[in-house]
Amino acid sequence: MSEWTAICRVDDIPVLGARRVAREKGGEVALFRAADDHVFALLDRCPHKGGPLSQGIVFGHSVACPLHNWTIELASGEARAPDVGCAARFAVKVEDGVVHLDAAEMATRAVDTAAA
Ligand code: FES
Repeated sequence: MSEWTAICRVDDIPVLGARRVAREKGGEVALFRAADDHVFALLDRCPHKGGPLSQGIVFGHSVACPLHNWTIELASGEARAPDVGCAARFAVKVEDGVVHLDAAEMATRAVDTAAA
């Protein structure tokens, strides 16, 4: 069962931008806000060469990595073809305008990848 942790308000994330969330074991999570107010969470690390996705440009439900311009799908973390790779994705729940992340995922998901 998920244990949801309140992180911030949707309004605290810039539209077409991102906000980073620190984790105890390293490897920040990037919260992205699309123009339609959908919120997505990915490890703030591009599957190509580790670029900070939170610094990228959000368009539609995608983000363009600031380093080499790969397009990453926010819902899945997958790179758009012809590029291949996947950023770790985190579950998000929005309730009454407040963004929540799953505590267990925050503690364990992609901790190794982030440290690499
Ligand atoms: S590190 Fe993201 S496209 Fe190269």
